[in-house]
Amino acid sequence: MALKLEALLLVLGLSLAQPASAHRKLLLFLLDGFRSDYISEEALEFLPGFKEIVSRGVKVDYLTPDFPSLSYPNYYTLMTGRHCEVHQMTGNYMWDPSTNKSFDIGVNRDSLMPLWWNGSEPLWITLTKAKRKVYMYYWPGCEVEILGVRPTYCLEYKNVPTDVNFANAISDALDSFKNGHADLAAIYYERIDVEGHHYGPSSPQRKNVLKAVDTVLKYMTQWIQERDLQDDLNVMIFSDHGMTDIFWMDNVIELNKYVTQDDLQQVKDRGPVVSLWPAPGKHSEIYHKLSKVQHMTVYEKEAIPSRFFYKRGKFVSPLTLVADKGWFITENREMLPFWMNSTRKREGWQHGWHGYDNELMDMRGIFLAFGPDFKSNFRAAPIRSVDVYNIMCNVVGITPLPNNGSWSRVACMLKDQASSLLCGQLTIWALVFILLLCPI
Ligand SMILES: *[C@@H]1O[C@H](CO)[C@@H](O)[C@H](O)[C@H]1NC(C)=O
Ligand SMILES: *[C@@H]1O[C@H](CO)[C@@H](O)[C@H](O)[C@H]1NC(C)=O
Ligand SMILES: *[C@@H]1O[C@H](CO)[C@@H](O)[C@H](O)[C@H]1NC(C)=O
Ligand SMILES: *[C@@H]1O[C@H](CO)[C@@H](O)[C@H](O)[C@H]1NC(C)=O
Ligand SMILES: [Zn+2]
Repeated sequence: MALKLEALLLVLGLSLAQPASAHRKLLLFLLDGFRSDYISEEALEFLPGFKEIVSRGVKVDYLTPDFPSLSYPNYYTLMTGRHCEVHQMTGNYMWDPSTNKSFDIGVNRDSLMPLWWNGSEPLWITLTKAKRKVYMYYWPGCEVEILGVRPTYCLEYKNVPTDVNFANAISDALDSFKNGHADLAAIYYERIDVEGHHYGPSSPQRKNVLKAVDTVLKYMTQWIQERDLQDDLNVMIFSDHGMTDIFWMDNVIELNKYVTQDDLQQVKDRGPVVSLWPAPGKHSEIYHKLSKVQHMTVYEKEAIPSRFFYKRGKFVSPLTLVADKGWFITENREMLPFWMNSTRKREGWQHGWHGYDNELMDMRGIFLAFGPDFKSNFRAAPIRSVDVYNIMCNVVGITPLPNNGSWSRVACMLKDQASSLLCGQLTIWALVFILLLCPI
């Protein structure tokens, strides 16, 4: 029995250990707003670039984002392996009452203050501290000095980088790998998200931009071969969240119908998740008034479901509103975030949005990987955005910081590693079961 127990502990130990890696180069793609079904089996038939990548590497069924299913919170979850309440990047719009400073998505100087970023150490900072060279292209926040450090190279984010910018970034990153300059390169691409917002996730505009990305990625696989990097470079492609249809004609919740602006000290964001700071003495009144509003839920901070891993965030407001799928919360209709369409006026309606409950199917994103460390033509079970960090650390050969990812959900993707035999919890328990049954 003692022997059996020892063997059992050994198996469990193996499954948790993260073996030393070959320390290869890593190219990352963050494709904003890429919903999991954009590369369904049927869709892949029309996407030769993605199809090739899928057949050469690993594809998970889907990636569940962290709550809220918004960009900045998930950019940071992906790069830290920590939930939002741990890394503190809890919104695309945040407010710090103690300094009266705001974080607002886009090109806004106060958003670059370390205050918002140094709640956790992202992978690119850890690597830079370890004297590894990190090249980042349009990656939101790569210009920020986080915990006193900046990456080796940062091509700053600008409002919607073009497809030419994207192709040039890839070519530049591959050259940097080839010349021995870069250990990690990370490229951000926004247009799938933008078209999904403007025209909706099922629109021809969204599909067309995906085709453009597909073409560039097809070239990328050639460029990797031409530079003879295929045995030394792993590539990972993932998204921050998905997208769902919204209906401004009908499904809009106007807060001004229920509460007056004077009773609110601060309001941040609009859409699926809105943060409210009631004026002094107004908390209960506002809470009770908003509790009666249909198609949304108002939470006091402590009552936010624990499964969101959100409520302990230091920038989380006293009241948080969460809309039902497809509903949009705003102060009033005039304040809706119209976009500038070809009329050159801010009058275009949005047809897609995200940020809702992260377990909703439409909020799910993608994860693909290929290269010498990954199995080929391998379909893996779903993972979560917190899981991506450990796999990145493993293939670049750096010890991960404490995080909330699950190694057992990602180990199965890797080739030639003891732990990859044990694919997911099910296999581990099957082995434990066998060991307990077999006389040793
Ligand atoms: C907080 O900042 C806002 C915007 O910059 C400003 O309008 C407001 O007066 C400030 N509040 C206080 C209390 O300083
Ligand atoms: C992060 O920045 C804030 C504001 O600048 C500062 O108060 C805090 O001490 C910093 N934290 C760390 C760990 O550097
Ligand atoms: C711009 O958006 C408005 C509102 O959605 C729409 O009525 C108009 O037709 C659009 N114009 C063009 C040229 O797309
Ligand atoms: C997430 O990870 C952090 C850092 O290791 C840890 O402090 C925290 O307890 C974890 N949270 C959960 C829910 O596991
Ligand atoms: Zn996004």
